[in-house]
Amino acid sequence: MTPRAGGTCGPRLVDAPDADALGDLWLAVTRAGGAVGFPPDAPEQDIRDKAAGTVADVRAGRAHMLALGDDGELDGVVFVVPGQGAVLGHRGTVVRLMVRPDLQGKGDGGALLEAAARLATTLGLEQLLLSARGGTGLPEFYRRQGWTQVGLFPGALRLGPDDLRDEYWFQKRLP
Ligand SMILES: CC(C)(COP(=O)(O)OP(=O)(O)OC[C@H]1O[C@@H](n2cnc3c(N)ncnc32)[C@H](O)[C@@H]1OP(=O)(O)O)[C@@H](O)C(=O)NCCC(=O)NCCS
Repeated sequence: MTPRAGGTCGPRLVDAPDADALGDLWLAVTRAGGAVGFPPDAPEQDIRDKAAGTVADVRAGRAHMLALGDDGELDGVVFVVPGQGAVLGHRGTVVRLMVRPDLQGKGDGGALLEAAARLATTLGLEQLLLSARGGTGLPEFYRRQGWTQVGLFPGALRLGPDDLRDEYWFQKRLP
């Protein structure tokens, strides 16, 4: 594991996450303007319901979760969702990369993304995909992390009545 600032450990695999802790993180990141599936003012219960569904996916083995921080208070997470079946089984999707707003900019996001790629390789996946919200610094963040932009879906994300964003698609081929 990679030591983090303060001496704590790097990303770890979690197979039985706590829905409240994930909901707390997801809510804080959303309210701070993070691009993790909701507009900033989304109802808290919608976010907590999504967190509960994500926890169920992890517990059922449909998604793999990497986390930073304690079980009761997560500092950051990312999920790898392997494709299913003969056609999609060689690839995976990276979703919900998020770091606690007060800890952003210290390397944790990059560390989680690298850990996701290592995990995907361990799972036997050959490539990863992810999407990023336009109108943010995220596409540049993923480019700088070594991902390749492979597509752009114009106006694919609606954040409000007058706020349509492009969705950027990125790929990483694994060794
Ligand atoms: C995106 C996110 C996970 C990055 O995590 P982080 O811990 O802040 O990132 P790091 O500290 O590893 O940053 C690495 C580099 O990317 C840059 N960076 C991070 N987030 C960025 C952003 N939103 N826009 C532009 N640059 C960004 C950092 O400045 C840093 O640059 P440097 O290496 O030149 O110093 C974090 O900002 C976050 O949780 N955002 C809210 C949730 C979100 O939008 N997730 C994206 C889902 S697609």
